[in-house]
Amino acid sequence: MIIQIILGDITSLTADAIVNAANSSLLGGGGVDGAIHRKGGPAILEACKVIRARQGGCQTGDAVITTAGNLPARYVIHTVGPIWHGGNREEAALLENCYFNALALADAHQIKTIAFPNISTGVYDYPKLAAATVAWNAVHHYFDSRTSGIELVSFVCFELDNFQYYLNLYQEHHGKFNQ
Ligand code: APR
Repeated sequence: MIIQIILGDITSLTADAIVNAANSSLLGGGGVDGAIHRKGGPAILEACKVIRARQGGCQTGDAVITTAGNLPARYVIHTVGPIWHGGNREEAALLENCYFNALALADAHQIKTIAFPNISTGVYDYPKLAAATVAWNAVHHYFDSRTSGIELVSFVCFELDNFQYYLNLYQEHHGKFNQ
């Protein structure tokens, strides 16, 4: 499995699946959720409404999958990150669940390439470095603990600070690399 770190807009990425930092209603919102629905078009919201009719919304830490509509990706995996309350309400465990459940859903759909934003670090106020560290460890733990068909995991950073955090994590784990 290859990891890549990208500075850019996840809605422009050509991947099998991009991950959305959704809310429990699955009806869209701001941030990356708003960008995905805006650029992906109504097909994504319609698919979310079918899921809502079947199971209600999406619990924190869980993940659901829909079409990507007009986006270059094939699928959107919607997951709901924890809202940051200071770190004593299982936020790290819930955030790890987001990555695990998104990866497991990707494997269940034979997805080979998947891209994540830094979930919970915008509206939900999770400290960016702490969230990136949870994301990094969760992804490595997932691949260390099972067989997966996923070949490429991308961390897509909309801002430079997130990008630098993930680069630092990469360097800590893999030593220096060619930029
Ligand atoms: N591409 C990549 N990353 C993005 C993009 C984008 N186009 N837009 C925003 N981001 C980044 C933000 O900079 C942040 O680092 O995604 C990360 C998550 O931020 P949010 O989108 O605000 O998501 P989150 O903090 O998980 O809050 C979710 O916000 O938008 C609402 O409906 C959503 O209620 C939910 C809540």
